[in-house]
Amino acid sequence: MTQADIGMLGLGVMGRNLTLNIVDRGITVAGYERDPALLSQVMASTKGLMLHGELEHFVANIKRPRALLLMITAGAPVDQSIESLLPLLSPGDVLVDAGNSDYQDTHRREALLQEARIGYLGLGVSGGEEGARRGPALMAGGTAATYARVAPVLTAIAARADDGTPCAARLGNAAAAGHFVKMMHNGIEYADMQLIAEIHDLLSRGYQLPASEISNVFAGWTKGPLASFLIEVTATVLRRTDTETDMPLVDLVLDTAGQKGTGRLASIAALELAVAAPSIAEAVAARVISSLKDQRAAASARFSRPIGDLPVLDQQQLADALLASKICAYAQGFAVLSVASQAHGWELALDQVARVWRAGCIIRARFLDDVAAAFGSTPTLDNLIMAPEFASTLERTVPALRAVIAACIASGIPAPALSASLAYFDGYVSARLPANLIQAQRDSFGAHGYQRIDRPGTFHSDWSAAE
Ligand code: 6PG
Repeated sequence: MTQADIGMLGLGVMGRNLTLNIVDRGITVAGYERDPALLSQVMASTKGLMLHGELEHFVANIKRPRALLLMITAGAPVDQSIESLLPLLSPGDVLVDAGNSDYQDTHRREALLQEARIGYLGLGVSGGEEGARRGPALMAGGTAATYARVAPVLTAIAARADDGTPCAARLGNAAAAGHFVKMMHNGIEYADMQLIAEIHDLLSRGYQLPASEISNVFAGWTKGPLASFLIEVTATVLRRTDTETDMPLVDLVLDTAGQKGTGRLASIAALELAVAAPSIAEAVAARVISSLKDQRAAASARFSRPIGDLPVLDQQQLADALLASKICAYAQGFAVLSVASQAHGWELALDQVARVWRAGCIIRARFLDDVAAAFGSTPTLDNLIMAPEFASTLERTVPALRAVIAACIASGIPAPALSASLAYFDGYVSARLPANLIQAQRDSFGAHGYQRIDRPGTFHSDWSAAE
């Protein structure tokens, strides 16, 4: 049997689609799947694909130095697979974890494999099964030598940005960096989706617009600064009617959001790094609150929503509010990436991260061209809010965000992510915050000390004494 260019371990939906994408580029694949049922589903007649059910035959069928993609469930299955593969591999071989692994597990695995001189890449793959088949965004972390072994394959299968650039890159010098970037992609994805959902809620439950009209509103935003995959998806799903009832299908969907957990991990990482990411945290919390369906039904019987005259808002104000809150959410996500890169020594180039996200991934959007330009022109930018182009956009759009949040508040429509984005902005642009009172409180009950604005040093006072 001819030797394959690369191995794919795990032929579930994502593994199968990545494999078909790879062989479509004329690259041969040795595929391995423990579950024979899945093997039968993969087109055994696929040209360039050699299927295996035995691990030894699978590994032996890959050209040296071997490169193997692992597309398996995150957690223990990855450790078990590495343990089974290790005796069959040779120094110089490369393993690529293409699943949604926790970056901390990836860090541990890279160190373990380094002892056997096996290269390890953490590879964030975004775009779902369609992206895997046609062109995902690929966020790799690992050494340059390890990445070089698989770079031709990754760039061949990746999505292309409008300028033709493959959305695949080595984004950090450690395997964990790849999975951390993917995790932050998902955290930003949660915020992006929640901001859109809150605008929808105001239009639906607030202004009582039918789904079809709201679909038209979002369809009007598929061009211009809000143009993105998630806006397109929103316009599409709102247009879908249920064939049996002829009602908007979205209105029949149970309003409890699932979460595999990557958004939550992103929020935890932000807290661990002491980086403010409230829009991401509120998006996670909103999914949790949505899961309390029975409690919410009971509480809604006890508390009625305010029925106030809603202020008149035009579509431009809604669009501006969404854009302003999105800029603030992305500013948070990139701030987490920046601090994580410094803390771990990953040397992440934030403009490159934004460039990889321009196509193929779930948050793909023209907006990311502007983010890439902002960090490209000022790599040491403290915060996206202060990039000249974004600062002037915020100056123009934040008033609309205030008006939209006011309308939500007046009508009892929860807007946690919109509000978190505005509070983040208002906090970041305030030269003076009430932290002076917090310092006084802390020093009063805990003698934690405080600094003064008028002289250097650390002070403690007896706050009970009248002076
Ligand atoms: C992607 C997606 C994907 C994620 C799904 C569901 O980048 O292709 O982010 O990785 O698993 O979106 O995630 P949740 O269940 O957490 O919403």
